[in-house]
Amino acid sequence: MEKARISDVTQMHELINYFADRDEMLPRPLSEIYENIRDYFVVKQDERVIACAALHVSWSDLAEVKSLAVAEDSQEQGIGAQLVEACLREARELGTSTVFCLTYKPGFFEKFGFSQAEKTELPHKIWGECYRCPKFPDCNEVALIYHLEV
Ligand SMILES: CC(C)(COP(=O)(O)OP(=O)(O)OC[C@H]1O[C@@H](n2cnc3c(N)ncnc32)[C@H](O)[C@@H]1OP(=O)(O)O)[C@@H](O)C(=O)NCCC(=O)NCCS
Repeated sequence: MEKARISDVTQMHELINYFADRDEMLPRPLSEIYENIRDYFVVKQDERVIACAALHVSWSDLAEVKSLAVAEDSQEQGIGAQLVEACLREARELGTSTVFCLTYKPGFFEKFGFSQAEKTELPHKIWGECYRCPKFPDCNEVALIYHLEV
């Protein structure tokens, strides 16, 4: 597990969009990954990026876990769990009080203590991103929230 480097971006983009093409997560353009590179963690095997996830700060008391993807041949080995824990650890270090995610896999996040929330409980700022999403307004992602003790 390490912070992502610029040279990892093309592989991260391929990994995220592989699952996005299968409707398992939202696509991310290359430009967005480059611009937010400091948000991302990666897991590498030799030089291959086998997993990634991002923690994005949204507001004074809110951060989002985004773009969590583990390559199919590396799933079910605890890597997704390690990435979520790394994002929660970083959120705690940054001093944010709440972490949320939008996902098609709520059961996975519930394992870490996230609980389902109404999307309307999330601040309006979050919807800025939704407007730009190709799935808006018919997205069936579920919102989950995790409260940190800071
Ligand atoms: C969802 C995903 C990130 C899980 O990663 P992973 O590395 O296989 O997960 P882990 O091995 O760390 O699993 C941790 C726990 O979650 C469970 N789990 C894994 N996928 C799950 C799912 N879809 N729903 C519910 N629980 C799940 C595991 O069984 C394991 O449980 P255990 O601790 O009781 O054994 C991975 O399957 C993936 O990248 N999928 C495609 C993209 C995607 O859906 N991303 C997330 C949504 S944005």
